Amino acid sequence: MNHFQYIDGELHAEDVPLAEIARSVGTPFYCYSTATLERHYKVFAQAFADHDALICYAVKANANLAVIRTLADLGAGADVVSEGELRKALAGGVPPERIVFSGVGKTRAEMEFALDQRIMQINVESIPELETLSAVASQRGMTVSIGIRINPDVDARTHEKISTGKAENKFGIAISAARDVFARAAALPGLRPISVAIHIGSQLTDLEPFRAAFTKLAATVRDLRDHGHRIDRVDLGGGLGIPYREETLPLPIEYSKVVADTVGDLGCRLVFEPGRMLVGNAGILVSRVIYVKDGEAKRFLIIDAAMNDLLRPAMYDAWHDIKPLRAPPPDAAVAPVDVVGPACETSDTFARQRDLTPVREGDLLAILTAGAYGAVMASNYNVRLLTPEILVRGSDWSVVRRRPDYEDLLRQDSLAKWQVRSR
Ligand code: LLP
Repeated sequence: MNHFQYIDGELHAEDVPLAEIARSVGTPFYCYSTATLERHYKVFAQAFADHDALICYAVKANANLAVIRTLADLGAGADVVSEGELRKALAGGVPPERIVFSGVGKTRAEMEFALDQRIMQINVESIPELETLSAVASQRGMTVSIGIRINPDVDARTHEKISTGKAENKFGIAISAARDVFARAAALPGLRPISVAIHIGSQLTDLEPFRAAFTKLAATVRDLRDHGHRIDRVDLGGGLGIPYREETLPLPIEYSKVVADTVGDLGCRLVFEPGRMLVGNAGILVSRVIYVKDGEAKRFLIIDAAMNDLLRPAMYDAWHDIKPLRAPPPDAAVAPVDVVGPACETSDTFARQRDLTPVREGDLLAILTAGAYGAVMASNYNVRLLTPEILVRGSDWSVVRRRPDYEDLLRQDSLAKWQVRSR
């Protein structure tokens, strides 16, 4: 469910015609819907209303400050994986006592910053990381609550590049090592190991891998308790998939039943780290057709967004729905086209042989379900400017990340000192 719908033949974000934004800010641009963000957060929160649950929004999915603020205002915490994300979450109004710091490679400096902010928990993924965190905390005379991420060796049955819970992946510690690692953590100064964390992958379209992983996690918690550890919280990660092609996917309420069945009787506080599920369908990328090019074998729509703006199709062969901003007549015939960007790579392709109604030069298109892992993965590749971001609420809209200009871009580099010519 999202709030990007045709009203009188024009695609709107809530009550705002997207063409109006395009006229004002130019293309391409990302556009987010407040009502959709709020709805998704509430549906997820509602599914766990009967539990002691904290929803820590995975900032990596969309780190725009206004998006973070929208979710923070609803009570969301944050799951962050870098000092940058942590700073964004704090600036967006997430209280430190609702922030979890995850990730396999936190540096000492990042740990120091996180400790100084007094965040809720740091999730640790290896013994060397445990030792470093212990040293950093003791040096400050602090004791930090930690979770230890276990790797359950479960196949999430999703794209291999976004699977994280198999033994061969770099994430977490082996379940068989959990007892030893907790004992080590308990013996080190400055650490309070109180949580077991897990995250098996992203865009899961099936609940069974969650069931398998959470079952293993519950057994681990029981075993650790039997060995004298006080486990108060479990961190169940994110990963719930969303419909990119209007497919039917498990609902948050169905997911919550799996959670209740597997870890519900541990008496632990439940921490969730949903990213995509909250923001994916709340964002679109609007782009203009530069040329319609009839190649020898096919027709190409060359649009002004490129792989540097939305990397998912190139990186994960992801499928994103594409709609014209002006609704086609109901009887319009469709024909297959390739929708491509201007970047100099064949992988700069948003859709291959997609059936679309006729599109002309200058027409505006929306690439849907682009709110998660869209703007955050953008780059300046081909020395293209980053795409601006817009947030809509009802009939109001605001630029929440401006389009940089070429001066901004040129200022980033400088010549080496021996290249500077004095004139
Ligand atoms: N927690 C941890 C520890 C994670 O690594 C992730 C995602 C999440 C939570 C949030 O997962 P979600 O609920 O969004 O599935 N760029 C890829 C997705 C990478 C996901 C990385 N980790 C894509 O565009 O599909």
